[in-house]
Amino acid sequence: VDEGHGVKGLSDIGLQTLPKQYIQPAQEQISTSTILTEESIPVIDMSNSNEQMVADMICNAAEKWGFFQIVNHGIPMQVLESVKNATHKFYGLPAEEKKMYSKEESPTNNVRYGTSFSPQAEKALEWKDWLSLFYVSDEEAAAFWPSICRDEALEYRKKSERVIKKLLEILMKRLNITCIDETKESLLMGSTRINLNYYPKCPNPDLTIGVGRHSDVSTLTILLQDEIGGLYVRKLDTDFWIHVPPINGSLVINIGDALQILSNGRYKSIEHRVIANGNNNRVSVPIFVNPKPSDVIGPLAEVLQNGEKPIYKQLLYSEYVKHFFKKPHDGKETVDFAK
Ligand code: SIN
Ligand code: FE2
Repeated sequence: VDEGHGVKGLSDIGLQTLPKQYIQPAQEQISTSTILTEESIPVIDMSNSNEQMVADMICNAAEKWGFFQIVNHGIPMQVLESVKNATHKFYGLPAEEKKMYSKEESPTNNVRYGTSFSPQAEKALEWKDWLSLFYVSDEEAAAFWPSICRDEALEYRKKSERVIKKLLEILMKRLNITCIDETKESLLMGSTRINLNYYPKCPNPDLTIGVGRHSDVSTLTILLQDEIGGLYVRKLDTDFWIHVPPINGSLVINIGDALQILSNGRYKSIEHRVIANGNNNRVSVPIFVNPKPSDVIGPLAEVLQNGEKPIYKQLLYSEYVKHFFKKPHDGKETVDFAK
């Protein structure tokens, strides 16, 4: 497999059977007997005038599901459409041009085009290509981000700031934190990363996976998905999985490990995975809202002030992220690294 062309390269040449590197062990393939169809994650209307009710729904969802969708969130539809289109455009570039952003050729660590999750660490590869953009400043982005999708990605990031702040304020309030000072702002949203994900149609979708079981290392993730579907989330404390249905104009929000740690386990960072699709190419565009890499994360003092015992230790966020990328997508265990 030539990694430089990604799985899109394999899909484009009309491959009829899945190369064996992509065949996942049976326990990683989704079996229909583990899917719950009668339940779904909450869908929350951010424009509802009953603000207390909206806040309660958000905090309850963060505690019970770790995942929810928001609608009427204030990000214009056209901004969302543009970044999805820009994602298709980026992947439509000739392989040689995309390769300029690969690990081997990209002049900066902040821009990275790759395939699978971390091919060195994995026993079986994932059916996914990605472009990962770590945001430093508009100027830095102008210099290094691919021009074919840069403005759209920047606009989506900028327009999402308000709703990100709003969600974090609501989640903090339930923890008795009413003032997000500079230190907290850094811990909660000190850095952002945008990924443009591409899951090309796959010859044997049942044998492989788009993304394996994992929880995010972020504080919050804001995910824009297209109309294809395929994202499944684990139901808290069970072995059952629930599909996250695409809703036009919605954003999927999930709690990441960093916020689970900061809240001392109150908010849940839930495992999720994406199946491969036999008929369609799928794109998704997550924004990972993260602590600053140099921040030390651990249960917040306000959460512990009633005598609650800390479940997690204090650790450098960059160490946590490094640990995550060293191992394959094999489930929820990353957060144990903070114990
Ligand atoms: C991910 O969680 O890594 C991707 C989610 C998606 O593409 O829906
Ligand atoms: Fe994820």
